[in-house]
Amino acid sequence: MYRLLVFSLLLCFTTLGCYYDSEEDLYPNVTCDTTNVKYSVDVKAIINNNCIGCHSAAANQGGIQLENHADVLKYATNGKLIGSIKHTSSYVAMPIGASKLSDCNIAKMEAWVNAGSLNN
Ligand code: HEC
Repeated sequence: MYRLLVFSLLLCFTTLGCYYDSEEDLYPNVTCDTTNVKYSVDVKAIINNNCIGCHSAAANQGGIQLENHADVLKYATNGKLIGSIKHTSSYVAMPIGASKLSDCNIAKMEAWVNAGSLNN
């Protein structure tokens, strides 16, 4: 009985062990391309997927809107955008009620800000 239990546990670990591994976690440098990050392609998509539910003009949570480039630029410039997604102390950690953005998405946002937060 005990052997059977150990065996099934082992089987469980070996077959399911890789189930949750994401390519991005396993090969961060291979799949994360932060060159040529664009507002219209990358930044807008990350925000639409993770933030817009609370930061659309209609939702306006915390009085903060991230609908278009001009909106996002304000928080890119004052440091709050990167501070909040990197969970830097003294900023409110974003997104509220969800897990931190992936390292790759944070790196892309940061690369975009460091390149001048262009409307590209
Ligand atoms: C579930 C709702 C919700 C989601 C999702 C969310 N926010 Fe927020 N956000 C808020 C609220 C509410 C506040 C105001 C918090 C406060 O002032 O205590 C806020 C505040 C902020 C601030 C100001 C932070 C500061 O330190 O002053 C920024 C910047 C921000 N959000 C960006 C984002 C970004 C970027 C995302 C997506 C990665 C996101 N938020 C996702 C609700 C949300």
